[in-house]
Amino acid sequence: MTGIKLEVDGAAHDVPEGASLLAAVRAAGIELPALCSDDRLSPAGSCRTCLVRADGQIAAACVTPAASGAQVETATDDLQQLRRDAVELIASALPPRALAGDNPSELAHVCRSLGIGPEAAQGVGGRGGDDSHPYVHLDRDLCIACGRCVRMCAEVQGTFALTLVGRGADTVVAPGTGGSWADSDCVACGGCVDTCPTGAIIEPGPARGLTSASHQAASLTRTTCGYCGVGCSLEVVTRDGEVTAVLPARDGPVNQGHACVKGRFAHGYLTSPERLTRPLLRRDGHLEPVGWDEALGHVARGLRAAVDAGGPDAVAAISSARATNEENYLVQKFMRVVIGTNNVDNCSRLCHSPSAAGLTASFGLSGGTDSLDDVERADCLLVVGANPVEAHPVVGARLLRRVLHGAKLVVADPRAVGLALHADVHLRPRPGTNVALFHGLAHILLTEGLTDEEFLRDRATGLPELTELLDDYPPHRVADITGVPASDLIAAARLYGRARRPAIVYGLGVTEHLHGTDGVRSLANLAILRGAVGTDRGHGVNPLRGQNNVQGASDMGALPDLLPGYGKVTDPAARSRAEAVWGVPVPEHPGLRIPDMFAAARAGDLRALWVIGEDVCATDPDANRVAQALDACPLVVCNELFLSETARHADVVLPVASWLEKDGTFVNFDRRFQRVRPAVPPPAEARTDFDVIHAAASAMGVDLGCPTPADALAECGRVAPVFAGLSHHRLDREGAIPWPCPNPDRPGEAKLYTERFATPDGRARLAAAPYLPPGEQPDDDYPLILVTGRRWAHYNSGSMTRRGGNLALDPVDFLDLHPDDAVRYDVQDGAQVTVESRHGRARLITRVSEQTAPGQVFCSFHFPASGVNRLTSDHADTVTSCPEYKVTAVRVAAP
Ligand code: FES
Repeated sequence: MTGIKLEVDGAAHDVPEGASLLAAVRAAGIELPALCSDDRLSPAGSCRTCLVRADGQIAAACVTPAASGAQVETATDDLQQLRRDAVELIASALPPRALAGDNPSELAHVCRSLGIGPEAAQGVGGRGGDDSHPYVHLDRDLCIACGRCVRMCAEVQGTFALTLVGRGADTVVAPGTGGSWADSDCVACGGCVDTCPTGAIIEPGPARGLTSASHQAASLTRTTCGYCGVGCSLEVVTRDGEVTAVLPARDGPVNQGHACVKGRFAHGYLTSPERLTRPLLRRDGHLEPVGWDEALGHVARGLRAAVDAGGPDAVAAISSARATNEENYLVQKFMRVVIGTNNVDNCSRLCHSPSAAGLTASFGLSGGTDSLDDVERADCLLVVGANPVEAHPVVGARLLRRVLHGAKLVVADPRAVGLALHADVHLRPRPGTNVALFHGLAHILLTEGLTDEEFLRDRATGLPELTELLDDYPPHRVADITGVPASDLIAAARLYGRARRPAIVYGLGVTEHLHGTDGVRSLANLAILRGAVGTDRGHGVNPLRGQNNVQGASDMGALPDLLPGYGKVTDPAARSRAEAVWGVPVPEHPGLRIPDMFAAARAGDLRALWVIGEDVCATDPDANRVAQALDACPLVVCNELFLSETARHADVVLPVASWLEKDGTFVNFDRRFQRVRPAVPPPAEARTDFDVIHAAASAMGVDLGCPTPADALAECGRVAPVFAGLSHHRLDREGAIPWPCPNPDRPGEAKLYTERFATPDGRARLAAAPYLPPGEQPDDDYPLILVTGRRWAHYNSGSMTRRGGNLALDPVDFLDLHPDDAVRYDVQDGAQVTVESRHGRARLITRVSEQTAPGQVFCSFHFPASGVNRLTSDHADTVTSCPEYKVTAVRVAAP
């Protein structure tokens, strides 16, 4: 390692280039007070509590760079007195409670370590507070104006919601908007709470004063967040079997000490009185509590009856992107081994199945090409069809940080999503025209010579066919199709084309279309043309996966055509690998996809459906017909936390554990396996999905083997060579490990394809798919295009985030409408409207906003009662059956 050699109190130490003296002193095992410093932030040097002597000069250690050969002193009497005086001066302005014996704050800890007692705090207080926000309370009397919260909000979160106001001793933090905290721009990432050294900003309740630096006394469990696919590492604080606080892990490989409003605060659902705690069985039309034996006996008899009546393919299961890898592995094994069918799918069908198909076709593997750490090194980010600031906030914050540090940013999204405010170019294509947009960009790359000819010659195929196709996509024609001005298109192509290390990040705005797989492949073309994938000249193509373990659910083979590790069920070699481990033949014809399961149920061909942790009635498109399918199916079993819309249609409802109550692993969006550990037990009789699947198999007379989650992952590695190097034991030791990881003695591959692509000929494949229009177009009857997506405070169907403080932050599903359309359709801001499509109707509250373009409306689907997915159509990606959520023609009317 190249580093800096220096001496601290006479002992030699090495620190990395760029380290501060404070880091050097800490590396030497010496603790200094540092009240305005936080490793996650730029140094401020304002509190003077970290004074040392460097080469004879008194210096604030936090803002002084470590220099080679420096002689650093920390322990002389005068230095200790200087630091003590600085701390004492700060404490003296605070009221006595700031230093009370049980106060867990960093300041109180520092004072205790310096022998400064509570009597040193002599402030009278009276500056008041702000408890308007459900998760962030301010006690102004405890503010020392260190500015850590302000820097955290700006530098780490990128929200710039806080500022310091007042002068001199009256300086205090405040929301920048001037009003209450609840009305501010705060997105409740918890960063200010976590960095505050005095307890001036706290999470109310039992978590009061706990931070990732001050939880020593508490019982801690390290786990991985169960909300979105980012994969934040969290420290869960528990007391008496209940979660007290969820804190960001400072060394989390993805979140690096950061979190968002969901992972950080939205755990109130755990103890909701609405949690299901006993199995329910439908009798005489009503769901009644029963014991597990009775419920599982009913399930076993029902599954047997379905097989007897219609064969194994009369049974299907929808596995869960919320569940662990081990649970998904077990579900697909249950279906293939116990039932004898490939009828198993997961909700990636509804989000990123086009990514899996498209990336596999272009590059060979079903995952993003680079790690987030790589992406963060890009000098130009092309962010397409994604709103990470709201849907993947920790990634959004990291991308924004990169942009604020100088990377160019092109955003391609119909809406003015958060990152678009910081974009060099914002392309706003009409929904459903992505393929034309990407071809337009590719046309400019080719015509302006912004391609990597050597890469195209040596490592790619398909250039002649694509070149011929792109003749039809000059900027003016693409402008006509997409509505994006040709000049913006050219500017964006030049930014991406001329960057030294560009990266593409994309989301569901690319996949959830009639031609979503073509969209993924056309987007991947750009990286191939630039030689920016599998090389050091760029950072590839990276999908932001939606649910916490949607990557893992597919990796584990919870798919109708693919076995664990993506071996095709039609491939005899892949089947025989699984058969050798499982000891039974694997059916060779692909099973039903989720929409086909519903169609088969409506047709009377599907006689049993097991839905595990998915509220399909709320989240799947054309929800009225989903409900019809469940009602037509003779046996519907549902594993759930709450009595969801889907559970209400079930015949058996099994109460199961949430992510904070189970053991296993998740795979995040950049293919990292990470451990999931139970912080608390499931409530009452609820069990993990892992236990439930095992118990159901036992009830049918089959031992599925792999009795523990660790055993299940180990067994999966025997079926799927790409996971053979992974184990719980290794993950416990090493933390995050990306796949492919075939060897227990070698690291996983964070960056793919550095030597060859995983296609049969080792080359990346350019795709020449023409633009085809979306399934729905606006017309006189339905003149607006509806796009659906997530809001920052909620998650999917909202079953967890609606049961806690997040409800106060975002209480209903809103319909965003451009001001011009509000005038055109005579709709007031805040008015309730009926939204009608060709498929159904929903009621929503209007929010007039320029975030949406004229002619388009946007809403979330976090509140099943609003019925948003009754509006969406059953149009679906022609390759993968992923629904066309992003394009539905609607009209608005008075309620
Ligand atoms: Fe160094 Fe505040 S921590 S001056």
